[in-house]
Amino acid sequence: ALGGTVAEPIIINATEPLLLTAVRGEDVERPPVWLMRQAGRYMKSYQIICEKYPSFRERSENVDLVVEISLQPWKVFKPDGVILFSDILTPLSGMNIPFDIIKGKGPVIFNPLRTADDVEQVREFVPEDSVPYVGEALTILRKEVDNAAAVLGFVGAPFTLASYVVEGGSSKHFSKIKRLAFSQPKVLHALLQKFTTSMAKYIQYQADNGAQAVQIFDSWATELSPVDFEEFSLPYLKQIVDSVKQTHPNLPLILYASGSGGLLERLPLTGVDVVSLDWTVDMAEGRRRLGTDVAVQGNIDPGVLFGSKEFITNRINDTVRKAGKGKHILNLGHGIVVGTPEENVAHFFEVARGIRY
Ligand code: CP3
Repeated sequence: ALGGTVAEPIIINATEPLLLTAVRGEDVERPPVWLMRQAGRYMKSYQIICEKYPSFRERSENVDLVVEISLQPWKVFKPDGVILFSDILTPLSGMNIPFDIIKGKGPVIFNPLRTADDVEQVREFVPEDSVPYVGEALTILRKEVDNAAAVLGFVGAPFTLASYVVEGGSSKHFSKIKRLAFSQPKVLHALLQKFTTSMAKYIQYQADNGAQAVQIFDSWATELSPVDFEEFSLPYLKQIVDSVKQTHPNLPLILYASGSGGLLERLPLTGVDVVSLDWTVDMAEGRRRLGTDVAVQGNIDPGVLFGSKEFITNRINDTVRKAGKGKHILNLGHGIVVGTPEENVAHFFEVARGIRY
C-alpha cells in the first residue's frame, strides 16, 4: 500500500513524544535527548550494511535501507528523537544538480554552478516526484517508533546548499561562493531563492509524511561575517520558517549553525522554535543571549564521548543544569564522530534518560 501519492493515515499513539512537549516549554521531568548523526559509521551494525551496500546514495535512497539504518540507534539506545537517515544533499539530483558522496572524499558536485546560466538550469524541487522514498521511509518510521520518540526530518539551509554546489564539494576557504557573493550577488540570490522555495516545500512534504519536527542545517553560514549572514542566509531562513508556519503552524523547526557564537542574537530572528548550539558556547550564556522565547538544543562536545564514563556523566549534568528546566533538548554540539566507542554512547543515553529536574 505504500508508495502511492496519498500518504496513508497515521495512527497516533495517545502519548506525545517528550521532545515535542519539551520544545513547547510545558512541564517535563527531564530533557529529551538524541544525537546528531546518531545513525552512522561509529556503529558496527552500520559498517556491516556499508560493506554490503558500499554506495552512500544507495543506502540513503532505498526505503528498506533508510528505515533499517534510521532504526539502528533507536533499537540500541532508545533516543527521544529518531532522525531520518539521509543527507542534506539528497534533493540535489531532483534539482538537476548531479552529485555523489564518495568515501574518503566526501560530497562531490560534478558540475559546480558558477554563472547565471548555471543557476538558470536548476529545477525547483518536487519531493513527491524526486524523493518518494523519503516520504515512504518517514511513514514507516512513524509507525515503528509510534510516538515513543519523535521522528525527525531535516533539510540543508539555502546558504549551506549553495556553498556545496558552487564550491563543488567541501571547502576550506569558501573562496568560490564568496567570489560569487561579493562580485555577482544577484546570481547567488537567484540560487538561494530556488533553494529556499524548494526546502520549504521539502519540509512540508516531510511533515505530511510523518516527520514530527524538522531540523535545518546551516553548517556553513558561520563562514559569513554577520553583515553577510544578514544578506545571504538570515532572510532565506526566515522565508522558509514563514512559509512552513503558514501550512504547519505546530511543526517545531530546529536551526543548527556550527560556530554560531558570533551570531547567536540573530538566530531567533529566523522564527525557529529551537536553536541548536555548538560546544564553543557556554550553555548558560547561550540561553541568556538567545532569550526566553526560543528553546535550545545541545551542546556537548562530541569529543566528550571519547572521555571516561565519569567525565561524560559530569558533562551531561553540567549542561543540563546550565540549560535550566524545560525548553532544552540534550544533544551534542555537532555530529557524533567516527570512532566513538558505542559503549560510551550507551552510557551517555543511560545517564541522560536517568536525569530528573
Ligand atoms: O543525523 C543523522 O544520523 C542523519 C543523517 C545525516 C547524514 N548527513 C548522513 C551522512 C545528516 C543529518 C546529515 C547532514 C549533513 N550532511 C550535513 C549537516 C550536518 C553537519 O555535519 O554540519 C552536512 C554538512 C552534510 C554533507 C556531508 N555528507 C558531509 C560533509 C559528509 C561527510 C563526508 C565524509 O566522507 O565523511 C556527508 C556524508 C554522510 N552523510 C555520512 C553520513 C552518515 C558519512 C558517510 C557514510 O556514512 O558513508
